[in-house]
Amino acid sequence: MNFNETKYINWVRENIKSGVDYPLVVSGIRDIPLSELTKLGFSLKDIETKGSYADFDGFARLKEEIACRYRVKPANVTLAAGASMGMFLPSIALLNPGDEVIVEEPCYPPLLNIPLGLGCRVKRLSRPFENGFQPDIAQLKKLLTKQVKLIYLTNLHNPSGARISQDDMYKIAKLAGRVGAYVISNEIYMEYLGKNSPAPAFKLSDNVITIASLTKAYGLGWVRAGWVLSTPKLASLFNRIIVYLVGQNSYPSEKMALFAFRKIKYLQKYTDTLISTNLAILKDWMESEEKLEWVEPAGGAICFPRLPRGIKAMDFVAHLKKKYSTLVAPGEFFSEASLSLRRDGEASHFRLGFGVKTEILKKGLKRISQALRTFKPR
Ligand SMILES: Cc1ncc(COP(=O)(O)O)c(C=O)c1O
Repeated sequence: MNFNETKYINWVRENIKSGVDYPLVVSGIRDIPLSELTKLGFSLKDIETKGSYADFDGFARLKEEIACRYRVKPANVTLAAGASMGMFLPSIALLNPGDEVIVEEPCYPPLLNIPLGLGCRVKRLSRPFENGFQPDIAQLKKLLTKQVKLIYLTNLHNPSGARISQDDMYKIAKLAGRVGAYVISNEIYMEYLGKNSPAPAFKLSDNVITIASLTKAYGLGWVRAGWVLSTPKLASLFNRIIVYLVGQNSYPSEKMALFAFRKIKYLQKYTDTLISTNLAILKDWMESEEKLEWVEPAGGAICFPRLPRGIKAMDFVAHLKKKYSTLVAPGEFFSEASLSLRRDGEASHFRLGFGVKTEILKKGLKRISQALRTFKPR
């Protein structure tokens, strides 16, 4: 095994640490402070651990709550420390060195680094800008062989916010099923759609595994509350692996997650109001900003605009940060191997997070426009 550094995560950490006024690099909404949960009625007594370790495979009441939300059985739910662990569990459970996997392109970098780290052979499934960032199903058919064990997808897509329809997801699951492959459907951004979100893709077919968490749409990344929906057989395999990774998930964290689930309507309301206000501002700005093109996101708090030909995203982003104290993420990180995003040999997109406070967004967008006019390609 050879787990390389995730250059993107390092880059974000370094750049955030050095401080910017307009951090449009984030993909979640603000972190909800503990004090706000306390105002909603959360008390330290709620994380009393007495008798807790009886639920060896994760806090039963939380599993029931999640199962109820998605209309599945508690036996379909595995609790994980964030969607990060959620993605890792099926990867180590189902992959062996030398297996083939298919990873969407562009992608959230860990999707690529996990199978590479496990010694798998990675094939890329393009989600081109020209196709609204939808996966190319004709290409998928060609990529699928008996050696393919896992397909990694995000829905909504990170970085673009595009949504794969249930019909297409079903087609993908069926195609994968023919060669005995599983599909990971990372739905962490689908949470943003709240009541309007479709049923988790796991419900379409037994070879689909849905992953999500409270991190992005609810501002609770610090609780590390993630979950995986799968068949009970896979769930018990994942629980076996959790014993090696962390022994048992953090019980206080699981209890906080339960509290959050019970207040989900309140949390969702904050998110809906912020996102609908900010998306309207973003759309107006994109309409007036003639230097950029985009695929409007289907929801969530990220989009992936395309820069004018000949501008290298990495250079533009450095200019934007230095002169305008505004941070967006260079497209190169999501598309290291991409040809679809390279014109004149250069990646040409950046990821813009719009789940920040509305005032920050307005000012940040203004600065991006200024930077587009003052940037001089090298
Ligand atoms: C697609 C995707 N999966 C997982 C994560 C990490 O989620 P968590 O904080 O729940 O571990 C992120 C964070 O950016 C993400 O974009």
